[in-house]
Amino acid sequence: MRHFDFKNGEMYAEDVPLSKIADDVGTPVYVYSTATFVRHYKVFSEVFNDVTALIAYSVKANSNIAVLATLAKLGSGADVVSGGELIRALTAGIPAHKIVFSGVGKTTDEMRLALEAGIRVFNVESIPELYALNETAQSTGTIANIAFRVNPDVSAGGHAKISTGKKENKFGIAWDDAEKAYALAAKMPAVRVVGVDVHIGSQIDKLEPFEATIEKVSELIGRLRRAGHVIKSFDIGGGLGIPYGNNEQAPPHPADYGAMVKKMTRDLNVEMIFEPGRMISGNSGILLSKVIYAKETGSRNFLILDAAMNDLLRPALYDAFHDIEPVKAPGSDFEEVLYDVVGPVCETGDTFAKDRALPRCNSGDLIVFHTAGAYGAAQSGQYNTRPLVPEILVNGADYEVIRERPGIDDILKTERIPSWLS
Ligand code: LLP
Repeated sequence: MRHFDFKNGEMYAEDVPLSKIADDVGTPVYVYSTATFVRHYKVFSEVFNDVTALIAYSVKANSNIAVLATLAKLGSGADVVSGGELIRALTAGIPAHKIVFSGVGKTTDEMRLALEAGIRVFNVESIPELYALNETAQSTGTIANIAFRVNPDVSAGGHAKISTGKKENKFGIAWDDAEKAYALAAKMPAVRVVGVDVHIGSQIDKLEPFEATIEKVSELIGRLRRAGHVIKSFDIGGGLGIPYGNNEQAPPHPADYGAMVKKMTRDLNVEMIFEPGRMISGNSGILLSKVIYAKETGSRNFLILDAAMNDLLRPALYDAFHDIEPVKAPGSDFEEVLYDVVGPVCETGDTFAKDRALPRCNSGDLIVFHTAGAYGAAQSGQYNTRPLVPEILVNGADYEVIRERPGIDDILKTERIPSWLS
C-alpha cells in the first residue's frame, strides 16, 4: 500500500491532502508518513524476530527527532556518526544501549559524550582512533566496547560517491591489517573487543555483495576466535537499495535480504546488528514544491520550482533520479511536455531532471518528488540564503510541523558584523 497516493483527483499523504499542507505551511516542504516508517521498520525487523538482532536505524538518512521517536517506539536502536546525532537519538528516546557509534573521524569530545551516555559499541575505523578511544575511556574511568570496522574490499556497485567497501575508500581497517588491530586492542586496558563491523555502500541493488561480505567476515570471525578474541556481534552496516522508479533491476526485498543473512550467519553464534537508513526512511517521505514559472525558451521547456538543490541535493550531487508527479491528478486528455525541472539557485547544477515527461504545468501547480525521505532534509542547507526546508509528519488524518521553516532573522541571528566595521 502506498501512503502517498491519489484520492479524489489529488495526492494525499495518508489521509491528508498535500494541498492542505501547502496552504498551511507553504512550500517547499518535506512530508513524511508515519504509516510508511512503521511498515518499513516492521518489514525489516520482523524477519529477525526469531534471532538476536539489533536494528540500529542509521540516523544520517533522516535525523529529525520526530522520526527517531517514531522508530524508538517500535524498538529501534540507532547508528550515529557524530555527537550531534548521538544527542538526537538520546533526545528521541533511543536507549544508549541500542546506540552504535560509526564514522572515520570521531573526536575525543564525541567519544567522551558517548562513553558517558553508555552506548553499546564504538565501530573503530583506524589505529589512531583506537589509541584515542583507549585514552579517553581511561581518563573517564570507563571501558569502551569496540568492534573494528573492517574494509572487506568488496565492490557493491552503485554511485562512486557512496561506495565505501573498496580498499581505496577511506573507511575501515584494511582487510589484511584486521587481525593485527584486534591483537593490539586486546592489550589495551580501557577497550573491550565485542564484535566485527562492516558497511560496504549504499543503494545496493543485489544480494551478492552482501553475501561476499558475510562470507569473508565469517572467516575472519573464525580466525579472531581462534586467536582468543571474544566476538559476540557482527554489524553488517546498512546499504540495502530501494526502488526510486528508474532502477535497472528491482532491489532485493528486505525479507529476502533478511532470510539470506539469517541463513548465512545461522552457525556463527553472533548477535547481528543492522544499520538500515534509506530502506526505512527513503519512501517514507516526499518533497512538496510549487511551480514558480513554466519558462519556454524555444529550445527547452523549464519548470522552475520553489525547491532547489539546497533543499534536495541528491540530483545535483549524485545525478540521482527522483520520480516527479503533479499533486493534481492529470485528466485523461492531458498534454505531455518534456521539462527540465530546475530550482531557483544560481547554478546550472540546480537541475532535478532533464527532459522529464510531465503533464503540462503552470505557475502555482504543486508537484512532489517521491522517495525523498532519506538524505533529503538531512542534507539540506541554506545556500542562496534560502531558509532550511521545513518538515511535516503525517499520522493518519493528523499532521504536525516537526521542523519549522526559519525566518531570515533566524539565519542572520547567528552572524556578526565585526567591531572594526560597526
Ligand atoms: N551505516 C554506515 C556506517 C553508513 O555510512 C551508512 C550510510 C549507513 C549505515 C546507512 O546506509 P543506507 O542503509 O542508508 O544505505 N547521501 C547518499 C547516501 C550516503 C550513505 C552514507 N552512509 C545518498 O543520498 O544516496
